[in-house]
Amino acid sequence: MNTESDTSNGVQFEGKETYVKDVFTEIASYYDEMNEIMTMGMVQGWHKFLLDKAGDFTGKKCLDIGTGTGELAFLDAERAGPDGEVIGVDITPKMLEFAEIKMKALDLPKDVVFEEGDALNLKYEDNSFDIVSSGYMLRNVTDVQQAIDEMYRVLKVGGKFVVADLGQPDNRVVHYFYKWYMKHRVTKMGRKYDKGKVIDGKVPAYDWLTSSVVGFPHGKEMTAKFMAAGFKDAKFCTKTFGAVYFYYGTKE
Ligand SMILES: C[S@@+](CC[C@H](N)C(=O)[O-])C[C@H]1O[C@@H](n2cnc3c(N)ncnc32)[C@H](O)[C@@H]1O
Repeated sequence: MNTESDTSNGVQFEGKETYVKDVFTEIASYYDEMNEIMTMGMVQGWHKFLLDKAGDFTGKKCLDIGTGTGELAFLDAERAGPDGEVIGVDITPKMLEFAEIKMKALDLPKDVVFEEGDALNLKYEDNSFDIVSSGYMLRNVTDVQQAIDEMYRVLKVGGKFVVADLGQPDNRVVHYFYKWYMKHRVTKMGRKYDKGKVIDGKVPAYDWLTSSVVGFPHGKEMTAKFMAAGFKDAKFCTKTFGAVYFYYGTKE
């Protein structure tokens, strides 16, 4: 893969948008299972921890961006209750198909509305949501700042954003083990699922997961992007020794 690792915008290359869509189309049927395995069962806890940062969801209008198979959107809907409203938007139709299938087996207070759309050019009006959530999408976009600017635009004044993505542990010892885990364990586990299938002439799906983390802005650098969008109180915290980062704040 011809990647250009730019510390301010993550890994970018020609054809990234199509490649990312093709990756998620390929892995949609086993995405949830692989997430459980790779995170050693921690992903659900991370989702809940993230949403807690947005406070009370009751009756709120929520947008989950890069919703994938809908895991965060379903939690938004449980918290928003029957008077709330949740839209889950994603650029990959196949991921949304699985979200729809999963929703049939759930007893949500109100169904999530899943829609195809691009995080860089959201089709929603300015100031229209109370809460924006987004999990593990930012590494996949071609312009991180634009995606964050769009979150700001669609939030109402007083609205809250909660965003999670991967980072890299700063502690050198932990970093060493993290790199080993990502390079050897995650790629090896992924190979059982993605079968090493080359996508668009580029690396297989789970190699993208590991390579997209390298040079991806996290912590203070990412928080600065939320501040640049207008979120004056943007903050971050981490879990799992800095492998995962949570960003949150309010549109004033
Ligand atoms: C790693 S998955 C995360 C899915 C879900 N949020 C979760 O936590 O499990 C990233 C998702 O972002 C979506 N995505 C990537 N680029 C996007 C874009 N420009 N606009 C909307 N969704 C995008 C992908 O299709 C994929 O479903």
